[in-house]
Amino acid sequence: MTHRSPEEVRAFYDAHRTVRQYVTAADGTPIPLPPAHLDVILHAAQRAPTDATAQLYSLVHLRDPEVRAQAAALTTNAHMATASEAFVVCADVRRTRRVLEVSGRTPGHWPAVAVHFGIGDAVMAGTNLLTAAEMLGYQGCWIGGVLNGIDGLIDLLRLPQGVLPFAALTIGTPAENAPYRPRVPRHLVVHTDTYHDGDHDELQDAIAVMNPIASRGGQPGDWPRLLGAYFAQDGGMEKREPHLVAALRRQGMWSGEAVAQTPVH
Ligand SMILES: Cc1cc2nc3c(=O)[nH]c(=O)nc-3n(C[C@H](O)[C@H](O)[C@H](O)COP(=O)(O)O)c2cc1C
Repeated sequence: MTHRSPEEVRAFYDAHRTVRQYVTAADGTPIPLPPAHLDVILHAAQRAPTDATAQLYSLVHLRDPEVRAQAAALTTNAHMATASEAFVVCADVRRTRRVLEVSGRTPGHWPAVAVHFGIGDAVMAGTNLLTAAEMLGYQGCWIGGVLNGIDGLIDLLRLPQGVLPFAALTIGTPAENAPYRPRVPRHLVVHTDTYHDGDHDELQDAIAVMNPIASRGGQPGDWPRLLGAYFAQDGGMEKREPHLVAALRRQGMWSGEAVAQTPVH
């Protein structure tokens, strides 16, 4: 295997774009990946390293157009129906528990660890899949929008206890010119020896660097406004929170105390 140069590696990662519009057939239906391409991105997913050898994740490959359409509605991401391929990436501790049971062992009780390593394994597999797809010339999109309809998604995919959707992934050939999106300056993300809390000026600089990611229709971007819509008081994440807690409970993966909030339906 020949090694890549630092410049080639940088160029590969700089070519990454999240893409939400894909080339489809004339009637708008998905054009599946060629079998060899699909096979190798799934192979890449399974080559991800994994905690304690367990592979605490599952991928649900969505193929039925009706399932795709329902997943698009539940996640509020239309490209779930139109991308060449669509996957729901799940933390999965069920298979490991079943391996223990069929080999005569009693599974332990570790719901917090299940979420910790299950999500980690799911992310590593999904990242390998997306990177492999990008190596083949495709682009993709992670979809945290699974939290917009997580209960319905658990029903739709018939996910048993111990399996929790983390996010979905769409893959295909881009039909849009997505921009190169900035990242927070490295010194606020990569800490040397001890944690460095960014000061006021450093955070203002980071905001200036990140503002273009929120630009729409030629208007200047306002990154804190975008973050606020998700993470500020009364933002989207507070609305998602009770649904995620309910899903963790439903899937037997909740390790916290009882919560006062009840899900809003
Ligand atoms: C876990 C995760 C969830 C995401 N959820 C969504 C989503 O629901 N819908 C969407 O359009 N983009 C989603 N994205 C894509 C991000 O918006 C995108 O990665 C970010 O804006 C940076 O852009 P870039 O990947 O093109 O550099 C998600 C990304 C990640 C990693």
